Amino acid sequence: MEIKNVCVIGGGQMGRQIALCAAIYGYRVTVYDSFPGVPEKVRAWEDEYLAGRIQKGRMTEEAVAETKARFTVTDNLKTAAGDADLVIEAIVEVYEAKAKLFRELEPVIRPDTIVATNSSYMVSSMFRDCFKDPSRLCNAHFYNPALVMKFVEVVQGPHTSEETGKTVFEFCKSIGKIPVLMKKEISGFAANRITGVVNQEARYLVQNGYLTPEEVDIACEEGLKYPMGPFRLMDLTGIDLSYDLMQAMYKSSGVKPDCFDLIESMVKEGKLGRKSGHGFYDYV
Ligand SMILES: NC(=O)c1ccc[n+]([C@@H]2O[C@H](COP(=O)([O-])OP(=O)(O)OC[C@H]3O[C@@H](n4cnc5c(N)ncnc54)[C@H](O)[C@@H]3O)[C@@H](O)[C@H]2O)c1
Repeated sequence: MEIKNVCVIGGGQMGRQIALCAAIYGYRVTVYDSFPGVPEKVRAWEDEYLAGRIQKGRMTEEAVAETKARFTVTDNLKTAAGDADLVIEAIVEVYEAKAKLFRELEPVIRPDTIVATNSSYMVSSMFRDCFKDPSRLCNAHFYNPALVMKFVEVVQGPHTSEETGKTVFEFCKSIGKIPVLMKKEISGFAANRITGVVNQEARYLVQNGYLTPEEVDIACEEGLKYPMGPFRLMDLTGIDLSYDLMQAMYKSSGVKPDCFDLIESMVKEGKLGRKSGHGFYDYV
């Protein structure tokens, strides 16, 4: 199947960057976000980002004008997804929210539209019942910042057709990414599973008073040459996202994850990481 029109659902950190990346590479893209004020924020961000590309000499004025003409933002799901060849979902990492959205999406999309979820951990088979034909459903997990990071995990579930996996894999390549196609699904996919083991140990060391978050980051950055320690990375990806994931872990295992109370108190105080200006580190 040839992809021309792309709909990205969720105009947050990930959705807006995935969408703009696709528009830069020539796709017609519509971002849908249901939260008041977000569409305006996405348009302002897009203007600022593209103006910066011209200033830095990375894009010509003509290329920016063409990209802008291909990039639309709306608060209407039907307008955004009705004629999409590919829908990429990037709303909050909460199962019930994603399942509700997919049920609203199903009657709106064409029978041949492919749907990919950018969930960080949830395999697409968790949502197979939301669609009449789940053979068109898979995971496409981009990395943050999605305009820069090249790695994407495209994951087929048992319900996903080979054609769907291949089409999404080729789409990712066509927007400058270096994807892997996993033909067997597993929660957390590849890179997040590996990082998850490191994060668990990092949180154990902090919870039990061996090291501060800053010292864990120094150990990883200076001792292991990681580009970013786990707590600095949490600030980048969003403390609220870590909290959503830890709540799901807590609910499924009944065991409170290390640093749960710390992360919960940070979310309550509005310390969401870089996006709010404060997290484990200060950014303002
Ligand atoms: N933040 C990361 O580093 C990262 C990396 C890879 C994948 N992900 C995944 O991407 C997804 C989005 O994460 P994010 O960090 O961009 O979140 P975010 O909170 O920055 O953005 C989510 C957006 O979705 C919108 N939204 C929520 N419910 C909606 C609905 N029902 N309909 C339409 N819009 C809705 C919100 O208004 C918000 O703008 C999550 O599944 C997350 O696990 C995040």
